[in-house]
Amino acid sequence: MRFAHGEAPTWPEARKAEVEEIIARYPDSRSAVLPLLHLAQAARGWVAQEDLEAVGRILGLSTAYVDSTASFYAMYHGHPVGKYVITVCTNLSCHLAGAGKVLEALEKTLGIKPGETTRDGLITLEGTSECLAACDAGPVAQVNVEYFLRLTGAKAETLVEALRSGDTKALAGLAEHGEAAAEAVLSARVREVPAHV
Ligand code: FES
Repeated sequence: MRFAHGEAPTWPEARKAEVEEIIARYPDSRSAVLPLLHLAQAARGWVAQEDLEAVGRILGLSTAYVDSTASFYAMYHGHPVGKYVITVCTNLSCHLAGAGKVLEALEKTLGIKPGETTRDGLITLEGTSECLAACDAGPVAQVNVEYFLRLTGAKAETLVEALRSGDTKALAGLAEHGEAAAEAVLSARVREVPAHV
C-alpha cells in the first residue's frame, strides 16, 4: 500500500471554506480530487490513507478512485517526508541525459538512498520513473513543487548545500522559476502550490 495510515485529518473542518470553494469551482466533483489532496498534503505534510477516505467522503467518490488518482502523481507523498523532497526523474529522456549521475551525487551528498530522509528531517530523496514533463531539459528534479532543470552531479551538490544553508540566491540560480521558486521552497509555503506554478 502506497499511502500509510495516520491520524484522522483535521483539514476538512479547519479549512471548510476552502473545501467548499474548491468544490464549487468544478461541475464534475472528480475534478476537485487533486486540489483537495493538495490541501491534505499541506495540512499533514504527506497524504495518509485517512486523507484519501476524507476526500472520497467529501466528493461522494470511492476511496479506491481517489487512491488511483493520487497514486498516479509523484507529488503526493504516502508517508512522512522531510521539509524538502527532492524528486529525481529517472524516466528514459532524463536517464539518457544523465539522471543516474545526479541521483548518485545526491545519494552521496545526503548519505541516504531514494525513499529515505536525512536524520535531521530536512531532506527526503525520491527517484521516480514517472516523467515530470520537462523531457527536453533533463536531467530534471523537483524540490517540493519547483523544477530544477539540466542538472549535473555538481549542480545537485550545490542544490543540497543551498537547501541546507537556506541560500536563496544559490537556489534561485538553479531553479526554473528563479527567485520566486527559491523563496517558495525556502518559505513556510513549501508544501503549497505557489501561484507561478
Ligand atoms: S523523462 Fe524526465 S521529464 Fe520526461
